[in-house]
Amino acid sequence: MVILIGNQKGGAGKSTLTLLLANYLTSVHEEKVTVLDMDYQQSVSSKYEKAKILENEPPYEIVAVDLAQFPILLKVLTKSPKEIVLIDLPGKMDDDGLIPVILSGDIILCPFNYDEFSVDSTLLFAMVVQKIHSRAPLIFIPNRIKSNVRYDTQMEVERVMSKFGTITPTIADRIDFQRVNTLHTPTIVLPAILPILNLIYDNYIKKEIPE
Ligand SMILES: Nc1ncnc2c1ncn2[C@@H]1O[C@H](COP(=O)(O)OP(=O)(O)OP(=O)(O)O)[C@@H](O)[C@H]1O
Ligand SMILES: [Mg+2]
Repeated sequence: MVILIGNQKGGAGKSTLTLLLANYLTSVHEEKVTVLDMDYQQSVSSKYEKAKILENEPPYEIVAVDLAQFPILLKVLTKSPKEIVLIDLPGKMDDDGLIPVILSGDIILCPFNYDEFSVDSTLLFAMVVQKIHSRAPLIFIPNRIKSNVRYDTQMEVERVMSKFGTITPTIADRIDFQRVNTLHTPTIVLPAILPILNLIYDNYIKKEIPE
């Protein structure tokens, strides 16, 4: 199965969420995972190459892929029904080459923040994605949420977003998230993240993966 992680908004938490999910799926559920880094800046894959030098057996591969290589790579990876492919999407959705990438998604995860600009770009992302691939469930994940976020702002945002998909509980803004890397999720962030990852796994992933 293919899981897309995207949002037009830079810094929404796409790469962090990709790594959290990859770490979770491999360590908690012993799933077979490959991460495709389609971000033009290729931040996750370059960090991975550095981390790999220190590790004998990385729990999953992270591969930097461009749009031209994507179809063939996807074909190879999805030959195995147990394989879970996570795709860290580019921040810009202005390339028609992205259409097959969007269409390949079984579910689409969209981390976002409650600030005005973030919500606007998140809605734009949701509209584009829904237009291309209306059948894939869209799951919004409020990320980096400060404790002072206004309740009415939150309610209004969630009301609009629920027209496009589901909204998970929020992930707090915590400095420890900056220590999430390709091989390890700091234990301290687990209580904040596990309820959300469990929810996504139980409701959307488990049923797609053969025993
Ligand atoms: N819940 C959180 N609390 C605190 N910091 C966070 C949280 N989630 C992500 N961050 C930090 O925010 C920054 C942006 O996150 P990340 O790189 O995951 O976003 P992105 O959407 O991949 O960005 P880009 O558009 O640049 O690819 C990173 O420094 C990351 O460590
Ligand atoms: Mg990123």
